Amino acid sequence: MLLIKLGGSIITNKEKPLSPRRRTIDRIIHRLKKVDESIVVVHGGGSYGHYWSVKYDMHTKPKKYDPRGVSIIKNSMVELNRIILDSFLKNKLNPYCLPPTDFVIGNKPTIKKIKQIEKIANAGLIPITYGDALWYGDKKSYILSGDKIMSMIARVLRPRLTIFVLNVDGLYSDLKTKKLITEFKDEKLFIKKSSMDVTGGMSRKVTEASKISKMGLKVFFVNGNKPDRIVNAIKGKKFEGTLFR
Ligand SMILES: Nc1ncnc2c1ncn2[C@@H]1O[C@H](COP(=O)(O)OP(=O)(O)OP(=O)(O)O)[C@@H](O)[C@H]1O
Ligand SMILES: [Mg+2]
Repeated sequence: MLLIKLGGSIITNKEKPLSPRRRTIDRIIHRLKKVDESIVVVHGGGSYGHYWSVKYDMHTKPKKYDPRGVSIIKNSMVELNRIILDSFLKNKLNPYCLPPTDFVIGNKPTIKKIKQIEKIANAGLIPITYGDALWYGDKKSYILSGDKIMSMIARVLRPRLTIFVLNVDGLYSDLKTKKLITEFKDEKLFIKKSSMDVTGGMSRKVTEASKISKMGLKVFFVNGNKPDRIVNAIKGKKFEGTLFR
């Protein structure tokens, strides 16, 4: 099984609110037709989720946020999800829409439900879930990121390869020179190195990716603007990106 995250950075233009990159989405999904393994997909919020969560000051920490914000973020994510689902259908693949509320209660994954995701994926369907605003309990809510969902699913289903599709070539040791880390080995070294300009988004992603690789699983960061790189990695031809192991 393959676990693939379509990052919000690649499926939308993060600089511009509510702007999907439809052609890029279609190109990536079209390439997935070449894959003959079962696939589970997670997608991020990009300029849908992040735009509203900033506007309503909603974060990953469970708190009593404005219900209006929760509602609008959820609605916005459904809209982006719809674009992704439509692209799968258009490409003659069979997406199976799976909002995170289907397998998360509070902030805990339901193991039984996650195991069911694998069965769905083995039945000719492609489960598709996404980062979202979720009810926590006791009037609290929070943002569950797509990256977090990746490690939740990886822990239970142990995919052969976990792929994060981004709008950059992989993890750079330096954002300015764009020096690519082809093989990532030590999280501590990365976080400590002062020359590294890592934003919240990327540093949290590295944390989740490291977590997954410490489960003994292979993780790969790849540029979705070069969709052949995704297929090459899946087929084991070459890894043009950042490999965690
Ligand atoms: N060291 C780094 N190497 C590569 N990219 C980095 C680095 N530091 C910061 N970035 C930025 O991180 C971005 C990717 O993280 P981001 O959270 O925005 O993407 P995403 O996870 O695809 O989106 P979403 O959270 O909406 O799903 C890149 O676009 C890049 O600008
Ligand atoms: Mg992110």
